[in-house]
Amino acid sequence: MTRAVLITGGGGVGKTTIAAAVGVGAARAGHRTLVLTVDPARRLATALGLETLGNHPEPNPQLDGLFAAMLDSAASWDAIAYRHAPVEVADRLVTNPLFEAVASRFPSGQGYAASEEMAVHLESGEWDVVVVDTPPASGGIDFFAAPSRMRELVGGRLLRWLTGARLPGRRGLFNLAGRPALRLADALLGGPLLEQVAEFLFDLRTTYDGITAKAAAIDRHFATAAIVVVTTADPGPLREALRFHEVGIEPELVVFNRSLPDDWAATVDPLEDGRAAAALNENLARWALEVGRQEDARADFSGQVGTPMATVPWLADAPVDLDGLQAVLDGSEGLSLDALGV
Ligand SMILES: Nc1ncnc2c1ncn2[C@@H]1O[C@H](COP(=O)(O)OP(=O)(O)O)[C@@H](O)[C@H]1O
Ligand SMILES: [Mg+2]
Repeated sequence: MTRAVLITGGGGVGKTTIAAAVGVGAARAGHRTLVLTVDPARRLATALGLETLGNHPEPNPQLDGLFAAMLDSAASWDAIAYRHAPVEVADRLVTNPLFEAVASRFPSGQGYAASEEMAVHLESGEWDVVVVDTPPASGGIDFFAAPSRMRELVGGRLLRWLTGARLPGRRGLFNLAGRPALRLADALLGGPLLEQVAEFLFDLRTTYDGITAKAAAIDRHFATAAIVVVTTADPGPLREALRFHEVGIEPELVVFNRSLPDDWAATVDPLEDGRAAAALNENLARWALEVGRQEDARADFSGQVGTPMATVPWLADAPVDLDGLQAVLDGSEGLSLDALGV
């Protein structure tokens, strides 16, 4: 069985870093590990062994058993079309201007395409562990909602009403063109468009069965994965972390990243000599206050949800090599392979 670890949370909280760190830890523990990453900073990509930012797994030259690939969301809608429709239908779909219009107005398509790519790797049988750095849209929640949104889009009531309960044949398509809603669109917008709309809906409808089955399989992966919500002690990320609970997603762990060390809260004897003393004293007192604020934020959070929590310390040197990434796990309290069921 492949263990899936999904690292989620808002933008900038440290998802990519923590996904890489979990990947390094898992590979060093002897698991054949794939890290699927989104937009890594260049130095982090290099540490992961990603020479080209492609979506094909590349082995890490420095660590046996560690592989990395990009979770590509750019060509996503095209990929969905080609995966679920016969090639001649997909060719027609991706060149239909309506397809582009839907793609740009339905952002969940990107998250959905990424989740399909994740599923391909989870089902390949090649990996002991797949660590997924999830796309940050809507604080990370979009990725988890994308399969059901996608299913609603291609199988939704509007589409069924327009194309009929069952997949219409070419004759059905002809009848479809006579539907009042489309006749109205035709009168308003002109004939060629009507034909495009009808053809588009018809073509999109052919993807329905494939997407329905795949979306259900992806939801099952979500249900069995270890979900890790990353946050900082700041109000914005905390609100986003709480939303997972509000929509009924049960994470395995909530990680408070960039936590200040507890002993910074300790009072020290103030410096008495030297020009810098007053400034330093004030500085230390401020950091001590910030430690207290972070502690309060964590206590407040754990009062609201029952999820196990972990802290990862704020590191003076952002982790950009394998040892630095390992240090993220080693320096943490509670972020361990054990806690993730790896
Ligand atoms: N614990 C930490 N200590 C110091 N810097 C960190 C820590 N975690 C992440 N960073 C830095 O913060 C920035 C954002 O992290 P990143 O992992 O890219 O976040 P995300 O993927 O959530 O957008 C990066 O420059 C990263 O090196
Ligand atoms: Mg990132």
